[in-house]
Amino acid sequence: ARRLITIPTVVHVVYKKPKENISKAQVQSQIAVLNQDYRFTNPDTAKVPDAWKGLAADAKIKFKLATKDPDGKRTDGIVRVQTDRASFGPGDGVKKASQGGSTAWPADAYLNVWVCALGGGLLGYAQFPGGPKATDGVVILHSAFGTEGSAIAPFNRGRTLTHEVGHWLNLRHIWGDTLDCSGGDLVSDTPNSRGPNYGKPSFPVISCGNGPNGDMFMNYMDYVDDAAMFMFTAGQVARMSACLAGPRKSFAT
Ligand code: ARG
Ligand code: ZN
Ligand code: CA
Repeated sequence: ARRLITIPTVVHVVYKKPKENISKAQVQSQIAVLNQDYRFTNPDTAKVPDAWKGLAADAKIKFKLATKDPDGKRTDGIVRVQTDRASFGPGDGVKKASQGGSTAWPADAYLNVWVCALGGGLLGYAQFPGGPKATDGVVILHSAFGTEGSAIAPFNRGRTLTHEVGHWLNLRHIWGDTLDCSGGDLVSDTPNSRGPNYGKPSFPVISCGNGPNGDMFMNYMDYVDDAAMFMFTAGQVARMSACLAGPRKSFAT
């Protein structure tokens, strides 16, 4: 198995209201969750159903707030930008200074995370590998970021970033983004499922002939509440590893 890869991470806090200017402690609470979830050291691993205990996997990725900025100067890995925008949408405005956002740091050397007010009920969104560098990274609603401060239940356990970073590492939603069992996530050990699950489902949820164990709704790449998701599979880890050996190989120093 591949050795541990460390990903320098910059968090752009783009705020209008004071509550959107989240604390360093809130940022650190989020990085701590990410580091648990990508090492399978999260406190809820025992909830993985027996049927899938053998599939749950350590992704062997570590995230570290950047200590050097693109000019080589010391930093705490947090950039704060005050904006006149009340909220942002999925159109990448938060990544552009000309639209009241904060410019990305070089995408081959940093994971860019923007935290802001997002409209339309969106918790977050991500750019898959292979896209434009200037917009590479993930965007997270401030109240779905970290486990303290402005974070609000049921999205106050840091799993929105875990999910979006999964996309950044080339993972698809486990139901394959179709609603008729025809699409998949290109990962063979995640059961095919019809569509997203929400809230806190009880096991099993059967669809697409996937009984007896049903949908793997407790996977980070479903849409359940933060407290109801707690695993990646070995197949998903292999797909993330392929990304880190391919389009994102600049991080595999
Ligand atoms: N892009 C998804 C959304 O906005 C993120 C879902 C994250 N789920 C979670 N439990 N945090 O709905
Ligand atoms: Zn998603
Ligand atoms: Ca699958």
